[in-house]
Amino acid sequence: MRARPPLPDVIDAHKIIVVCGTGGVGKTTISAALALGAALRGKRALVLTIDPAKRLANALGIDGRLNEITPIDLDAIRHDEPKKTGHLDAMMLDSKRTWDEVVCRFSQDEETRDRILTNAYYQRAAGTLAGSQEYMAMEKLLQVHQSGDYDLIVLDTPPTRNALDFLEAPSRMIAVLQEGILRWLIPREGRFSSARAGIILFGKGQQALFRLFERFTGAEVLSGIAEFMGAFAQLLDGMRSRASDVLNLLRSDQVAFVLVASPRRLALAETSHFHERLSEGGVAVRGLVINRVRPPLALRGHADVPEAASEALPKRIDDLEWNAMVDEVWTTYQHERARQLAEAQVTEELERQFGRGPAWVEVPEKEAAIHNLETLTMLLPHLQ
Ligand SMILES: Nc1ncnc2c1ncn2[C@@H]1O[C@H](COP(=O)(O)OP(=O)(O)O)[C@@H](O)[C@H]1O
Ligand SMILES: [Mg+2]
Repeated sequence: MRARPPLPDVIDAHKIIVVCGTGGVGKTTISAALALGAALRGKRALVLTIDPAKRLANALGIDGRLNEITPIDLDAIRHDEPKKTGHLDAMMLDSKRTWDEVVCRFSQDEETRDRILTNAYYQRAAGTLAGSQEYMAMEKLLQVHQSGDYDLIVLDTPPTRNALDFLEAPSRMIAVLQEGILRWLIPREGRFSSARAGIILFGKGQQALFRLFERFTGAEVLSGIAEFMGAFAQLLDGMRSRASDVLNLLRSDQVAFVLVASPRRLALAETSHFHERLSEGGVAVRGLVINRVRPPLALRGHADVPEAASEALPKRIDDLEWNAMVDEVWTTYQHERARQLAEAQVTEELERQFGRGPAWVEVPEKEAAIHNLETLTMLLPHLQ
């Protein structure tokens, strides 16, 4: 049977690693660990992260430093290999700031730029438009990639339920903006419907925001929106060509997608769905990280549970209590065993689905919280 490629080989053969997976599986944690591993192998690595847990962001020193490249001091964990030249930067993405940068870049003149940036409607809307987080992540990715400052960029993806949201959302957002602007500028019934504009712009879920605008004096808000839309129309061509540049880049062989999956049975359907949608979109998964695998229940070599329990339990204890405790241990053991078998079945099912093409690693569930460089380092041996 063909051997799977080792994960570090897959990583080192690409310039960009997109870490995807359903919400809460550990994308942000694994992204940081992958970038850290590459830095320790001597690469100039950057992790672009979206929503790091507060404590991890704190530990990396990026908490509150939105859209800023922040060097991570690796000396504390690199004492045995001081000669390696790699380094790690991290950046926490912020949609609103990236929006501002986009406006600055694509505005044809200063006046347009200022009209948009100072528009109250824009200030509230930027970052809230459906798909804008994905667009901005791509925007930033392209920027740092083109800077040539990095050997490896690890991109943590926003928490989406649908695998392709990340790829499709930007162009959908632009299409929606364009459609919104057209309808806005050329109202069908000769008059503007703010309710319809709300749906066009924000989708059904975020109309509350739009209603908020409506509460302001009508005419003022409407003219503000009209101005924003008019000015914004000029940006769209630039944004559209950027979005297609990123799509081309993401589909190129410089990029590898790594899927983080959970071994829990309940999560299997989501992972399979994610995988299917990625394949439909022409995206091959190059690495699979099964995260938070619970380590096998170790009875220190004892096949015989009552005997193991009797060693572990205090000696002076009456029979009744002893029996109750052995029962307890036995039940726990059975329970854990069933859980382990269920996880093994999920893993087998994933192996069947993904075949031997992608790199495959299993990362155990760590007891300690993963919130600093030392604990992140503990994940590295499992990502080999
Ligand atoms: N292997 C692991 N062992 C223990 N905790 C983990 C592990 N991987 C992730 N976590 C924890 O799970 C939580 C969610 O992880 P996170 O990386 O933020 O997920 P996501 O980005 O997919 O939403 C975090 O608190 C993180 O510390
Ligand atoms: Mg995350």
